[in-house]
Amino acid sequence: MTVAVHTKADLAKARAALPGRVAVVPTMGALHDGHRALIKRAKEVADSVVVTVFVNPLQFRPNEDLDTYPRTLEADLAMCGAEGVDLVFAPSVNEMYPDGRDGLTTVHAGPDGEILEGASRPGFFTGVLTVVSKLFHLTRPDAALFGEKDFQQLAMVRRMVRDLDMGIDVVAVATDREPDGLARSSRNVFLSEAERAAALAIPRAVEAAQASPDPLAAAQKTLSAEPGLDVDYVVVRATDLGEAPAQGPARLLIAAKAGTTRLIDNAPVVIGDAR
Ligand code: PAF
Repeated sequence: MTVAVHTKADLAKARAALPGRVAVVPTMGALHDGHRALIKRAKEVADSVVVTVFVNPLQFRPNEDLDTYPRTLEADLAMCGAEGVDLVFAPSVNEMYPDGRDGLTTVHAGPDGEILEGASRPGFFTGVLTVVSKLFHLTRPDAALFGEKDFQQLAMVRRMVRDLDMGIDVVAVATDREPDGLARSSRNVFLSEAERAAALAIPRAVEAAQASPDPLAAAQKTLSAEPGLDVDYVVVRATDLGEAPAQGPARLLIAAKAGTTRLIDNAPVVIGDAR
């Protein structure tokens, strides 16, 4: 049976009763099949699974979609129940930040947090790492599951766990895609039919990049052919997000807006003929 708690005090009690190795799946709710894949993997790597559901205001800028971000707690609890999650922690903003956000102690990413998502959304990774670190302290997990869809977030969390000696296994799960290829995201529900059609240039760009010895040029060409997309960045980086190698395995990362909805995607690519 899935137990749902909303306060830190109830979480502490419920957490103490969980047997064996514990895995946490941090989420902002609006759970979809991508989250389901994280939960399924969590059950493989641990005896007990905790899912957190919290739309973290600290990682949204004033002009972003904090107010409209989908909130579907009842459906989220139903999915967690169906997947055999042991404990759901769904706190309020006041429970997480009782003293407000002014003067809050925060966790800052190193320089890798300033590029890509960090450059487009200043303060984003401070918001993410601060809440993830709080959720780790509150749920005291042995393992934590993150999707590769948010590739830079995954890298930032891994780095934080290492740098701050948190002793948690960070487990990555491959990006789940909808039947038309679009990477699953809670934000996909915002897309109109026309925006969705434009958004499909993103998975097409991923496919073109993976089939080409010049993945960046292939992705750029596909994206620039779609007038309905406003591309924020399309880059190829080393797999650790450093400068791309001249040849060999690398990572393609894309961020683009369809209408007002910002979408990200990424995939492994190979530069040159070493494929
Ligand atoms: O990926 C997300 O849903 C969020 O960034 C996370 C990790 C739950 C932190 O709020």
